[in-house]
Amino acid sequence: MATEWDDYIAVPDATSAFRACRTAHAAGFAKLRETIEHVARLTAPKTVACLGAGHLNDIPYGHFVEKSETIHLVDWVPGIVDQGLVMSSVERDDKGRSRCIYCALSGERAKKYCRAYAGSRDAPGGVCRNFRPVEGGIEACEAFERGEQPIVEVGDVTAGFATAFGRAANAELDTVRTWRQALRRGNTLSNKIKRHRTALGIADSSVDLVTSSMVVSQFVHEPYDYYSQQAAARLGTPTPREERALKSAAGSLRSVLAREQVARHRDEIERILTPGGVCFLAFELYHYDDGIAQWFLVQEMLEALGAFAATLTFRFDLLPQGDTMREFETPMGKSLVHCVVLQRRAGPQT
Ligand SMILES: C[S@@+](CC[C@H](N)C(=O)[O-])C[C@H]1O[C@@H](n2cnc3c(N)ncnc32)[C@H](O)[C@@H]1O
Repeated sequence: MATEWDDYIAVPDATSAFRACRTAHAAGFAKLRETIEHVARLTAPKTVACLGAGHLNDIPYGHFVEKSETIHLVDWVPGIVDQGLVMSSVERDDKGRSRCIYCALSGERAKKYCRAYAGSRDAPGGVCRNFRPVEGGIEACEAFERGEQPIVEVGDVTAGFATAFGRAANAELDTVRTWRQALRRGNTLSNKIKRHRTALGIADSSVDLVTSSMVVSQFVHEPYDYYSQQAAARLGTPTPREERALKSAAGSLRSVLAREQVARHRDEIERILTPGGVCFLAFELYHYDDGIAQWFLVQEMLEALGAFAATLTFRFDLLPQGDTMREFETPMGKSLVHCVVLQRRAGPQT
């Protein structure tokens, strides 16, 4: 049965999934957070935008709240950032006392993040008078009410390309008779969609630090996986023989979709960066295939690196030595994540 794109992309209450994921990959997330925080300490951004912020697992959110003035958090899954925010504001100190990152700001700055802030209950840096711990072992506050910061946007970081392709897929597939035809139509649809752009709601040249952490890697999967799932709902799963015959056409559509998303994502990043601003970018460059016990290069990500390098320049001086390649365990297996910092080029380009 066909599924609409908007239903496919929405996740129901993911609190338990959030906790499981955060725990399972805690070490990898912590290292990425440290690397991003290092970049933030060196660049002292006033305005930050986290694209594909998700559950904020790999974002040094507490540091941004303490040091920056404006924080944009963007993800296309409705509600996912809100879930991340609830889970990212309260910690326990080494004496077992709750500490809220917003209450620690105190006064008007605390109110900017939490409308329920009500002045210090204990020593500054603890929690406010309205603090009510959430039951069930989650470090969070029941009274939390999001304020004017951070600015949360449910938006597509590929300037609308992936969403428009996903939304148009079912109509395109309704009349297909074969898998080969479905893949050809996918290419045609991609070309049609290229004409449309929907920018994020972040102003031009307004962001000092953009993070795009483990987002570009997703472009290899979506919206291709959705499209092929919808094709399978109509045509049935291809037999192993058909699959072999379709391998090249399927791989080509996957790459076409990834390439367009990378280019648009890069253009959006360039659009919102201030002239001296920088972007932290992390993606899976190598993946370990457990089945054949071998590492392989993710070709689309090598291309992605080339696309970013074509218009932006690298700032390796802003990364700690050794942090350009990090091992990371994902739900799909082991990978090596490449981290780079990028900046707009000065002067005219050749
Ligand atoms: C692997 S997660 C990155 C980790 C994330 N920062 C976290 O802590 O959970 C990738 C995130 O990017 C989001 N994403 C992928 N493609 C997107 C798109 N085109 N527009 C907006 N968000 C996207 C996903 O919904 C997901 O939350």
